[in-house]
Amino acid sequence: MKIISGGGAVRVRVPAKINLFLEVTGKRADGYHELVTVMHPVSIADDLSCRRSRDVHLRGGLEELGEKNLAVRAVRAAQKYAGTRLGMDIRLTKRIPTGAGMGGGSADAAAALAAFNVLHRLRLPDEDLNRIAASVGSDVCFFLCGRTALCTGRGEIVQPVRTARKLHFVHVYPGYESSTAEVYRRLKLSLTPPRRDVNQILETLAGGDVRDIGKALFNRLETPAFANQPPLKSLKRALSRFGFRGVLMSGSGSSMFGLCRSRDEARRMAGRLQQRGYGTVMVSRSL
Ligand code: C5P
Repeated sequence: MKIISGGGAVRVRVPAKINLFLEVTGKRADGYHELVTVMHPVSIADDLSCRRSRDVHLRGGLEELGEKNLAVRAVRAAQKYAGTRLGMDIRLTKRIPTGAGMGGGSADAAAALAAFNVLHRLRLPDEDLNRIAASVGSDVCFFLCGRTALCTGRGEIVQPVRTARKLHFVHVYPGYESSTAEVYRRLKLSLTPPRRDVNQILETLAGGDVRDIGKALFNRLETPAFANQPPLKSLKRALSRFGFRGVLMSGSGSSMFGLCRSRDEARRMAGRLQQRGYGTVMVSRSL
């Protein structure tokens, strides 16, 4: 996350994420699922421009969500935590698709939280920001960190991991959203085969061989997401025939990404997908 302060405004650029690996290891008493996931920031990003205000306003996208918008909720949570009624006006430039498994809402929440802290000079330490972030959503803590990370718990325990090189991706957003809660509801834990070990993806990321990384991509949520929205299964099958180094659904969907060896390869593949009418096609690289 990049934060620039000046002229009475705080501007934040926050990246999207993809999950290179996601295994579910159990269900918790609070209804959430215990995860082992590797989150990776990519170069598709939202911009937030924040100014002091008497109340909390959001403009530029998703206004219809009102107080339910995660960015607004993050500011409300920070107000409560810091015991202040100071407000913030947020102007959002949205590029991360919503309901795509790319963390769009959580990214905006983390950015709003960081901006609020800087704008009002609250000087909340990272530990406090993380606590507020976790109360807003499971993925929000990752965006405060902003580096490739192994995330556990319900996703809020974030440990940065080593990566040897930048990767290149093509993202396909099919034009419809996937409901995270519904995908988790459909997950049949008792029927899941032996758990996938996260070490394979961690080792290949540290090694840097794209073919090996492609083989280690895994997402346990694909099965319940495909059961919930069968066209996603067909999309994965079609993308798997395009010659990517690996294809995976991100998070709880609906977007998928194909791993490429270079920027040129990603552009070429994206061009072919666009020609054939594959929804919204975007190219990115690791941050
Ligand atoms: O934490 P967040 O609000 O992003 O999660 C959305 C929904 O996804 C939760 O209400 C829950 O149903 C499901 N979820 C889960 N286990 C996780 C993360 C999310 O069951 N670790």
